[in-house]
Amino acid sequence: MLTAIIVAAGSSERMGFDKLFALVGGKPIIAHTIAAFERTACVDEIILVGRADSLGELRKIVGEPTKVKQIVAGGAERSDSVRAGLDHLNPKCDFVAVHDAARPMITPEKITRVFEICRITGGSAALAEPINDTLKRADVYLAVTESVDRNGIYGMQTPQIFARKLLEEAYQVVAKKNVSVTDEVSAVELLGRKVVLVPNHDFNFKITYPRDLPLCEFVLKQRQSVPPS
Ligand code: CTP
Ligand code: MG
Repeated sequence: MLTAIIVAAGSSERMGFDKLFALVGGKPIIAHTIAAFERTACVDEIILVGRADSLGELRKIVGEPTKVKQIVAGGAERSDSVRAGLDHLNPKCDFVAVHDAARPMITPEKITRVFEICRITGGSAALAEPINDTLKRADVYLAVTESVDRNGIYGMQTPQIFARKLLEEAYQVVAKKNVSVTDEVSAVELLGRKVVLVPNHDFNFKITYPRDLPLCEFVLKQRQSVPPS
């Protein structure tokens, strides 16, 4: 059984207002994200992790009937929110997908693909974007100090899907070592376990700044006429 934990308990500081409730194509960002997981056949259940003060609003958006079985409060850091989701897993769940609510352009095809690769490769797979730009390292004065070979460099996205036991173990190590991780791959790396990347050539950027909203609306609208592969 695959459970998706959608983390939606951030404070949208860079956006300046709660970005997950911003309307895109007439629907809140979070509703687009949830809908993608609802439409994905291999996803059995969804746990939504929200801010304590927006759980009522989230309940209204989710409505009924739905795969969303729990709506729980998150924590101060993203990893605290993921942990809150892990604490509410169904005993029957054996795979967990973690996804940023702020990535509403995810598709059922990509979720399914990451789950396939996760099962084939021993329980860890994550969506990732190949980097196209030339990369440079700079000092504090922004003077270039060196070129960075972009070969083999990827930007991490979500979903990131794992065998439940592996992810739980990884987050126990995060707690024990008191380290800060910004995604699940970083947590699993602490165990020294292999994680396989699934390259994504489609739009799945994280809604971060106001400029991202019209771009997201364009992408979602265009997909209605030309569905992504
Ligand atoms: N998130 C979360 N709990 C936190 C922090 C983040 O559930 N304590 C979630 C966000 O809601 C988002 C995802 O993790 O869906 C990725 O985080 P990010 O895009 O950084 O969102 P925010 O933290 O809300 O934005 P900002 O960093 O600008 O404040
Ligand atoms: Mg953040």
